[in-house]
Amino acid sequence: MTDSTIRKNKFITFEGIDGAGKSTHIAFVSKYLQDRGIDLVSSREPGGTQLGEKLRELVLHEPMHLETEALLMFASRREHIAQVIAPALARGAWVISDRFTDASFAYQGGGRGMDLAKLDALEHWVHPHLQPDLTLLFDVPLDVARARLDATRTLDKFEQEKTDFFAATRNEYLRRAAQFPQRFRLVDATRTIAEIEVEITGILDELLAQR
Ligand code: TYD
Repeated sequence: MTDSTIRKNKFITFEGIDGAGKSTHIAFVSKYLQDRGIDLVSSREPGGTQLGEKLRELVLHEPMHLETEALLMFASRREHIAQVIAPALARGAWVISDRFTDASFAYQGGGRGMDLAKLDALEHWVHPHLQPDLTLLFDVPLDVARARLDATRTLDKFEQEKTDFFAATRNEYLRRAAQFPQRFRLVDATRTIAEIEVEITGILDELLAQR
């Protein structure tokens, strides 16, 4: 039912290190698709369900063992898929999610150094047949991301991490992008918002043309 080869509605995920500017572009994508008559479900991880939002509070603010953190991310994801993503895709809606499994590889795997084989096992357990049709990876150098973060918000547990953590997180995102070139689009997020919107529009128009 959720196999992308047999459906025309799409599952799109947004990824990037903190400070890459993903939130601005999610709002743009959401409006662009809705303006074109797309039935759209917009969600986020960790979170996306009542239980998931409780887990989000815990993982973003409580200190815990690395593997506990990864398991909670996937627990939130399991619920998110069951309650939100799978039913929406099954009824023909499009789904956009602010982060998905690539974030677990990037943050828990790259950033924190968790064994990638364990993350592979969790991915295959939690969503053996579901992958995004498109993953927009907003990529920026670390100094740019840090400057944006410091200027805009109170930092959570991840955002307070050091440069090395984000370097490893970014590297793992780039490794995943190279591993799955058919679904990843790497967006150079150092450019202006207007320039990025032009690129995103082109990518979305390709998907819309497949309907
Ligand atoms: P984020 O989308 O950056 O939220 P906000 O823009 O509101 O700060 O996500 C919250 C954090 O969760 C982010 O630092 C990355 C982290 N995260 C993981 O470490 N692993 C995961 O699997 C997911 C989904 C997120």
